[in-house]
Amino acid sequence: MSFSPEKIRKDFPMYAKEGLYDGLPLVYLDNAATTFKPYSVIQSQDRYYTDITANAHRGDYGLAHAVDVAFEGARKEIADFIHALPEEVCFTSGDTMGLNEVAYGIGRTLSAGDEIVLSLEEHASNVLPWFNVAKMTGAVVRYAPLINGRITEESLKAVLSNKTKVVSFATVSNVLGYVLDVKSLAALAHSVGAIYVEDGAQSVPHMATDVRSSDVDFLLFSGHKMLGPVGIGVMYGKKALLERMEPLFAGGEMNARFSKTGNVSLVETPWKFEAGTQNIAGAMGLAEACRYLRSVGFSAIQVHEKKLRELAVDGLKANGNAILYNEDAESGIVTFNVKGVFAQDAAGYLASKGVYVRSGQHCAKLLPEVLSCEATVRASIYLYNTEEDIERLVQASKHAEDFLDVFFA
Ligand code: ALA
Repeated sequence: MSFSPEKIRKDFPMYAKEGLYDGLPLVYLDNAATTFKPYSVIQSQDRYYTDITANAHRGDYGLAHAVDVAFEGARKEIADFIHALPEEVCFTSGDTMGLNEVAYGIGRTLSAGDEIVLSLEEHASNVLPWFNVAKMTGAVVRYAPLINGRITEESLKAVLSNKTKVVSFATVSNVLGYVLDVKSLAALAHSVGAIYVEDGAQSVPHMATDVRSSDVDFLLFSGHKMLGPVGIGVMYGKKALLERMEPLFAGGEMNARFSKTGNVSLVETPWKFEAGTQNIAGAMGLAEACRYLRSVGFSAIQVHEKKLRELAVDGLKANGNAILYNEDAESGIVTFNVKGVFAQDAAGYLASKGVYVRSGQHCAKLLPEVLSCEATVRASIYLYNTEEDIERLVQASKHAEDFLDVFFA
């Protein structure tokens, strides 16, 4: 079946609301922040609330069994999606929680002087948990240099040593949109005995992910950036590593027994990382999002995103008033400024034309020193965006220096 964003839009209730905002058709280009959800995901999540509400792993009645089947079935679907084993898929509230969980678990094993390698383009979620580890243990955070905005094997080699214990990078930067060669970077990390942590927040939604082939040790991602519900995400870890790792959260269902003297024995992975009642509905919704993305196919999604990115880059360049920061990136993230206009003002002007993008530092607060600019405008593309969306972005950007007219009209 041929790929058609117009047809795909029919699956999304948000596109049934065109014209609701400022009376203009909706041009949503903030998909790196969060995505729309198809009816099938919403229905899958609703099924928990309408048909099978009970807790998971706790009840000895038929309804509870139906919940267990749905919840563990969701885990299996998501595991298949990334080529993992179900017991390697731990549910989290999202990418941020997963990174905190990994940083805590791995951080407990580090000593003063051990090194954690990050880059200056990482999102706060992949920096601040490691700062906490450094504070707790005396480990040192080092930054792989960006080469023309990219993390390459050379950048990693520049900081890698036998002191390196962790390498943690986003596979697609949420600002610059460059795609990393995860497999070779993970192999390099392993060559010095370090753990490779993949922040997949911006990659898992847009490209096929195979943890077996890439050989990463941990992979974190969020459901809401890949057509799934908010409040659900995944921490993938190699089984042997998860078995050794201490969970960050303690509470119900993650323990097998405990005594009043404080002896606690934990259940097996992945459940030992799932303290308290889980977001069962979210897991069901995320599994449906995986099915939906698989049915469309990542090769078609990538071709589409590439085509729209090229249109955006060409159009913004033709305007003559745009400064582009990642012209040659492979993903659907286009980051720019309009000459002489502060990023937030440009985004406000675009919004007045019904074009929704994000502006600012995008939570990557170390990157401005690399880009030599405080803030940028980011348009991020997904499978339901159309050529007309890009044309509207380009046309609106052409006049973004008129933003004062909008605010003082
Ligand atoms: N991490 C999300 C973004 O880049 C929120 O917008």
